[in-house]
Amino acid sequence: MESMGEVLAGIQKRIEKLRTEGPSISSGHQDSTEDLAPKKSGSSLATSNEGCEKCNYTGTINTFKWVQPEGYPIPYQVASVELCSCHYERQFNKYNAAETFSAKEKEYTFKNAIIDDNNLAHYTTAIDFVRDVKRHMGEGTWLYIFGDEVRAADVSKEKGFTLEAYGTGKTYLMQCMANAFSLRKIPALYVTEETLFSDIKATYNRDSDESEADILNRYYNVPILMIDDIFSASYKEWAEGKLFSILDERQKKSKVTIMTSNYAIGRIPLRLPLNGGKIASRIRGQAEMIEMIGSDRRSTKRPA
Ligand SMILES: Nc1ncnc2c1ncn2[C@@H]1O[C@H](COP(=O)(O)OP(=O)(O)O)[C@@H](O)[C@H]1O
Ligand SMILES: [Mg+2]
Ligand SMILES: [Zn+2]
Repeated sequence: MESMGEVLAGIQKRIEKLRTEGPSISSGHQDSTEDLAPKKSGSSLATSNEGCEKCNYTGTINTFKWVQPEGYPIPYQVASVELCSCHYERQFNKYNAAETFSAKEKEYTFKNAIIDDNNLAHYTTAIDFVRDVKRHMGEGTWLYIFGDEVRAADVSKEKGFTLEAYGTGKTYLMQCMANAFSLRKIPALYVTEETLFSDIKATYNRDSDESEADILNRYYNVPILMIDDIFSASYKEWAEGKLFSILDERQKKSKVTIMTSNYAIGRIPLRLPLNGGKIASRIRGQAEMIEMIGSDRRSTKRPA
């Protein structure tokens, strides 16, 4: 068995790699990106009129691959159209997850985080998720980071010591991911659930520059959406409906969605009587899970 020191050294290596790997990701999937770039008429693949030398200023790259499926006598070529990496760079100008972070929050990084016995597994999963983000963007993987007080109480009884569900570092971990995406120029948005709803509500104001559809389209289409403290609002039917439509669209479009929450999947329907069951089943079907129950890192913090 690996010792704790060896495991930590492994993590350290992964972090170093994350830091030194190129700033941007290359293209790789052919997802449509409605509302993010002007469309070429007649094309089902959304492309930008801008581009770079690599893609001959088209925003896309045509690649040809030789394939020979079983039973075929000779290999043949298939063509595929892929989004150029410059496409994501342009999107990044619009969607930088760390943009709204305070100077302090910008320091919440995998490099600076305290990684110990309690959160080592959580950080490993999160770091691997960032390393594989290109694949996740192709497959539309979600990540659900949660700590539920009912679960914490049950597990506490089982283990004979107290585990908490709050202050366990869920938000901090997701902010580390946001900063990593930002460093790698991967387009992502970070919002608290509260901000998400207040952004939508603000558009009902007569003087608003943006319409509700503008905001919703942003949440439907951004390649990576990070929602902190999801399911924490006091829901009216209105809010439940909006949240469901955002998650439902993102699932249909295979968009990466990362959430922190105080609710285990099974308890989501208790929070959202109308759509909770449907939302829970989408998360169950789509998400990798990180359960963070343990010590409350707020109470163990030394005074500044
Ligand atoms: N890995 C970590 N390294 C250093 N500080 C951390 C770490 N995780 C959490 N903290 C600090 O502990 C406190 C609680 O973390 P937070 O992410 O807000 O918890 P949660 O979102 O689970 O309620 C915050 O002050 C945060 O900055
Ligand atoms: Mg939190
Ligand atoms: Zn290009």
